[in-house]
This record gives sequence, C-alpha cells and structure tokens, in this order.
Amino acid sequence: MATVRVPAPRSTAADLSVWPASTTEPAHGGLAVGGVPLTEIADRFGTPVYVLDEAEVRERCGAYRDAFPDAEILFAAKAFLCRAMAHWIDQEGLGLDVCSAGELELAVATGFPAERIVLHGNAKSPRDLEAALRLGVGRVVIDSPSEIARLAAAVGPNGHQKVMVRVVPGISAGGHEKIRTGTDDQKFGLPIADGYAQHAIARILDQPQLELTGLHCHLGSQITAVKPYLVAVRRMVGLMMRLHDQHGVVLPELDLGGGHGIAYRPGEPALDLTTLARRVRAELADACATAGLPVPRLIIEPGRAIAGPAGVALYRVLAVKHAGDQVFVAVDGGMSDNPRPALYGVRYAPRLVGRRSTASPARVTVVGRHCEAGDVLASDVDLPRDVHPGDLLAVPVAGAYHLSMASGYNLVGRPPLTAVRDGRARLLIRRESLEDIRNRDVGL
Ligand SMILES: Cc1ncc(COP(=O)(O)O)c(C=O)c1O
Repeated sequence: MATVRVPAPRSTAADLSVWPASTTEPAHGGLAVGGVPLTEIADRFGTPVYVLDEAEVRERCGAYRDAFPDAEILFAAKAFLCRAMAHWIDQEGLGLDVCSAGELELAVATGFPAERIVLHGNAKSPRDLEAALRLGVGRVVIDSPSEIARLAAAVGPNGHQKVMVRVVPGISAGGHEKIRTGTDDQKFGLPIADGYAQHAIARILDQPQLELTGLHCHLGSQITAVKPYLVAVRRMVGLMMRLHDQHGVVLPELDLGGGHGIAYRPGEPALDLTTLARRVRAELADACATAGLPVPRLIIEPGRAIAGPAGVALYRVLAVKHAGDQVFVAVDGGMSDNPRPALYGVRYAPRLVGRRSTASPARVTVVGRHCEAGDVLASDVDLPRDVHPGDLLAVPVAGAYHLSMASGYNLVGRPPLTAVRDGRARLLIRRESLEDIRNRDVGL
C-alpha cells in the first residue's frame, strides 16, 4: 500500500494541525506560511487578502495520487480555480471537474488538456455545451433528461461525445443539509429509486453519437465517514449490473464524485484518505465479482480536500464592541469573501498574528463588515482580551469555496490572492478595485 503524503497533524502548544504543513511560528507572535511571514503579506498586499500555499496544494494532489494510484483524480474546480491553480493541477497529473463555460475556458486557455476535463452542471446553458464541444472536453456528465436530446443535436449526426450520467443513489451524507446531494429530494442527478436514471440511460444508449462511459454520483460535501461511499459503490454496481442485463452494456468507468471532509478547527474529524481508498477499492472489487462485471476504472473528484487546507485568509480588525455578554471583533472582510458561515453555519478558528499578547483569552465572536447580522466568521473563539483595531487575524482552511463563492455585496471589492512558495509571495489575483466595479456599471 502506498504511503499517503498528507502532511502529518502537528500538535504544538499553539495547535497548528489545521494549518498548511509549511506553517512556522517565528518569534514575537508571528506566523509564516510557505516561508513568508503573514504580516509581510498583509503589509505588501493589504487586507483582506488570501494566501495559497503552492506546496500544500501539490502535496495534497500527491497524496491523492499515492492513495488512488489506479484512479483518475479530477480536481473539482468549483472549490477554487485560477490560472496558476489549473497549471499546478495539470503538472500534478490530475484532471479537472468544471461546471461552467467560464471554468472550462479559463482552464483550457491556461493550457489544461481538454480531454482531461469533465463538464458537470444540473442546468447547462447553451454556452456551456457549445464550449464543451468546441474545446473537446473528455466527458459531459448528463444531469437531466432534456440534456440528452440537446447534447445529441449539438454533437450532430456525425459527431461523437463521451458522456456519463449523474445518478442519485439515495444516500444521505454530508456536513450540512444544504450540501447533501445523494438523496432524491434535491436538484442534482437522476434518481435510481424511481427509475429516472434507468430511463435516461436507455435514451442515451439510443443516441449513436453519445458514448456512455460510466455512471457518476456525488453524495455531498464534508463527508468524514467512509461508509456512505461503500454504500454508494454497492448501489452503483447494482445499477451497472441491471444495465448489463437489460442492454448488454459493460460500463468502463465509475465516478464517485468528491466530498471528502476536512477539519476546519483543531480536533474536528477529517476523512481518512488511505482508509477510504483501501475500503472503496475492496468494496468495488467485491461488488463487481458478485455482479459478474469487470472492475470499472474509478474516478474521484476532490475539491475542498485539495484546496481548502492550503489557504489562509488575513483580515485586519476594524472594531471591537461589547454588547451584553458578547464581544464582537469586526474585521475588514466577511461574507462577501467567505459566504460559507452564512450559508452552512461553518465556523473557523482565527488567530491573532503579528504581535505577542500576554493578555488572558476572552471568548469573542469574529464578525464581518457586511450589512447582515448573519455575517459571522467565527463564534465562541478565544482571542487575547486586548484584541484591538489594527490587529491582524489569520483564518486557516480558507482555500476552498471562499474566493470562488465571493460576491459583490456592499461593493467592497473582492480580495486579492497571493501564492507563497519557498519564502516568496506572488500575486495571482489582484484586488477588485472600485474602478472595476464602476466599469461594469454602464447605464444611467
Ligand atoms: C459533482 C461534484 N464533484 C465534486 C465536488 C467537490 O466536492 P468537495 O469539494 O466537497 O470535494 C462537488 C461539489 O459540489 C460536486 O458537485
């Protein structure tokens, strides 16, 4: 069994277990990631600012390759995508899962091979499908019955496109109700239970220009247990067996999606990659043997587990306010650069960086600057009692579903993203300026 190179958890006095492996604590309350002091990044690029540790991204890709040597690993671009990220993912030998013409065009324009890209989407626009066919994506994952005829027509009678079908295996898993996608009562995929998946597959098999290469399912996100994936393997292989019996087809691929859970705060559980790989492989081999089918090539689509722990968000404290029993520490970013707490109630473990405080800890709520009471970044966290405006706060595990979900709320402008590596920081995405915002506003 290959060793998985996920950075070992560190448990020092100041718990850095959820920080990038490169994180060090130089003297005087400092914290450095990728060899670059976070204070230096804040001074140079301003705040709020996002920091992405290139080595951590690459290490995590390597950990997946080691754990799943025979599988095709697609990085889920929705977690975070920019040109450099596409480049790193390509160099690390992973493919990409995209869900819009925008993600697809950016990746291909960066030189990412289109045949290693899979297009998802529960409602693909004509532009999405046109870009997919023009650029030659590897597979299109069909998510609704109407897409079959649309795609077949767009491909044309003499064309050819590989497709998969997203099926709903009827499994409830995931860290929050809003990120569970394996059950029949949500918008993604075609349920097995009521026969919609089987019906759609029969129609696809009738389209000579569409080549069905396999089945896909994505159970949800922030899944920390292996069991739901094993149940999914059984149900997917069961469907593959019925398809073989009814249509005589043997599907060569099985895509189990992503959703691998990570710890956002020290002590939280994370999905164990080595165990996942070992048990999924064994379950698949066993299920296929029982079904009398050859073992399909496994595809997985991790997003969060690759990008999330590689990112750090830096904020400057703008105000500290006492209200009743509560202490609110307000920072210069919030739900416009990280909507996750407001969407799913996620909580983080921010740290004071840049100065060493001898003050005793106080229980505080770290809030954003936006005009929503739900704009809370971290509740019930301990920060030094003397935290004050001008202090710098660093939030770990900020690399996935932050900037990719950032909005224009309150017209504050989206923060920049810097990459750190070997003691150097470089700007990958610049700050959205007021001029950028004004330039889009073309009417009166
Ligand atoms: C189809 C599909 N694959 C993969 C992912 C990635 O999930 P995660 O970032 O939790 O690994 C998602 C997330 O929404 C998804 O919808």
